[in-house]
Amino acid sequence: MSNRVTIDVQPTPDAAMRAAVERLADGAVRAVDASGRFTIALSGGATPRGLYTLLATPPYATHVPWPAARVFWSDERCVPPDDAASNYRLACETLLKHVPVAPEHVHRVRGEDEPFAAAVLYEREIRTALQTPHGPPTTKPGARFDVILLGLGDNGHTASLFPYSPVLDERERWAIAAEVDATPPVRITLTAPVINAAALVVFVVVGAAKAPALRLVLEGPRDPVALPAQLVDAIDGDVCWIIDAAAAAELSGA
Ligand code: 6PG
Repeated sequence: MSNRVTIDVQPTPDAAMRAAVERLADGAVRAVDASGRFTIALSGGATPRGLYTLLATPPYATHVPWPAARVFWSDERCVPPDDAASNYRLACETLLKHVPVAPEHVHRVRGEDEPFAAAVLYEREIRTALQTPHGPPTTKPGARFDVILLGLGDNGHTASLFPYSPVLDERERWAIAAEVDATPPVRITLTAPVINAAALVVFVVVGAAKAPALRLVLEGPRDPVALPAQLVDAIDGDVCWIIDAAAAAELSGA
């Protein structure tokens, strides 16, 4: 486990989103100060809606240097970009249409395409942006994601790394198609090596429904096949869990 794991319990979901904005902004500004840009992978599902809306709202909209952003996704559902289930659509509607990110710096997964081909194309875009045409991800500045946002499913999944999935063992590919026990059933996900090379991973987890999974992931026995969020173990980066009191209710320190 990375020695730089922090758990930030906030009293309410809104407070958790505000804390996540500041942590994300800090990671982005550090990257821009060092390299003039920052690469971020956005998470999907329902939780980020509040976070993205806040990020697009003054004064928070100027806390993140969006003109320097290169935007990717931690995972995407294999649906068209205008589908209600699309993580790209969620981020566009709540955030990307409201902040100054150049369209050419937004790298969506082509969810409308055949999944294997979409994953290959997406991986190529990531490798180009991270200046690593071949081989495993490294932690060299500019060769890894500066910020990766993740959520937690109530079954312990993160991104589209689901329990007992064969993609959990993937160590070569950076993005891969996965069949999951959820709707929509086919997704493209970043793999564990790419996530673990990141400079900063921010989990945002809110709501009582997540409390059992959160306790198992953070305090239960290590079982990353059953609890894929336990795969997240930054090689040389920070992992920050930003959770609200309801999601933290079953943690030992609660
Ligand atoms: C997705 C997400 C997924 C999500 C969790 C939590 O595409 O659905 O990437 O990993 O973070 O399922 O989802 P909620 O925020 O909707 O609870």
